[in-house]
Amino acid sequence: MLNLIEKAMNTHNLSKEELISLLKDDNYFEDLLFAANQVRKKYVGDEIHLRGLIEFSNFCKNNCLYCGLRRDNKKLIRYRMDEETIVSLASHAKQIGLKTVVLQSGEDLHFNTERMCLIIRAIKDLGLALTLSIGEKTKEEYAAYREAGADRYLIRIETTDKKLYAENDPDMSWEERAQCIRNLKSLGYELGSGCLVGLPNQTLSSLAEDILFFKKTDCDMIGIGPFIPHPDTPLKNAKGKELNLSLKVMALTRLLLPDINIPATTAMETLAPDGQAKALNGGANVIMPNITLTNYRKFYQLYPGKTTTGYTPDDSLQKVIDKIHALGRTVGLGYGQSPHWQKEQK
Ligand code: 5AD
Ligand code: SF4
Repeated sequence: MLNLIEKAMNTHNLSKEELISLLKDDNYFEDLLFAANQVRKKYVGDEIHLRGLIEFSNFCKNNCLYCGLRRDNKKLIRYRMDEETIVSLASHAKQIGLKTVVLQSGEDLHFNTERMCLIIRAIKDLGLALTLSIGEKTKEEYAAYREAGADRYLIRIETTDKKLYAENDPDMSWEERAQCIRNLKSLGYELGSGCLVGLPNQTLSSLAEDILFFKKTDCDMIGIGPFIPHPDTPLKNAKGKELNLSLKVMALTRLLLPDINIPATTAMETLAPDGQAKALNGGANVIMPNITLTNYRKFYQLYPGKTTTGYTPDDSLQKVIDKIHALGRTVGLGYGQSPHWQKEQK
């Protein structure tokens, strides 16, 4: 196993079988995270880049079995912020020193191309880097957002196992999602994807495929999230909560894609008070402090138990900064593009 980890550190290539054997073996968990941490240091340095997350609407037209925002969850109180509120939160983000904001929502048709482009232009006028995480759109829509100034886009493939995808994402098509990812890349976005770990019936073989997919599609950022069952969804009795397996998938992703950005995800922190610290010491170099207004947060329930629920934007940021300093790392002062993406621009 140690030879395999060494090989990954030096060549940044592993076969599917090699990935599976590392995912299977729990005896080398610490070694794997340690190796990923070294590769992180060498390729992306000690800075941790912050992204202010604005959850601007929890309406969603989709019905993913794992997600609390699914349209059939009638228990959830829905909200959407108006344009002024979204832009004023971005402006506040700038005031408190953030350089990037991420606009995230369910797939909410209220925010048509025209509305989105108005918001994008207003935020870009503030001089911030802007990431969108608003789901599947046509290539023309992605092009319009890009034209309006959007820099980055997050869209997880969720799983590369097409059967599992079909079971968990009814009415959606895996091929279309993969096409969205290719479209975004071709439009020059800094591209973020990722997967869920611990879905019922998910295999280690498919997780290995997920990692190889990230490499093949030339992603610039990868977010790995442990699946956490939500009580008001069909998967409420599923097990999920695979923190260590998620950390292993994340560490292997760092080993194979050494110069990308990798967030320590909120879902990891939800499962353990030191979940994000472990991630930051196992290959991650980004945190996304939540800067959604406190009164909306409890309704943005992808999964239960989100640790950021009761906080204000300023509290959330301070907590994250404290965590970074406690680890002896520094807060990134620039826009924090991944070296991978920067190289492609030359
Ligand atoms: N547990 C963890 N992550 C989830 N997501 C949706 N539902 C859950 C859940 N129950 C993730 C999906 C989506 C992202 C915004 O949130 O991967 O892409
Ligand atoms: Fe909607 Fe995304 Fe949740 Fe699926 S995962 S129901 S697309 S918010």
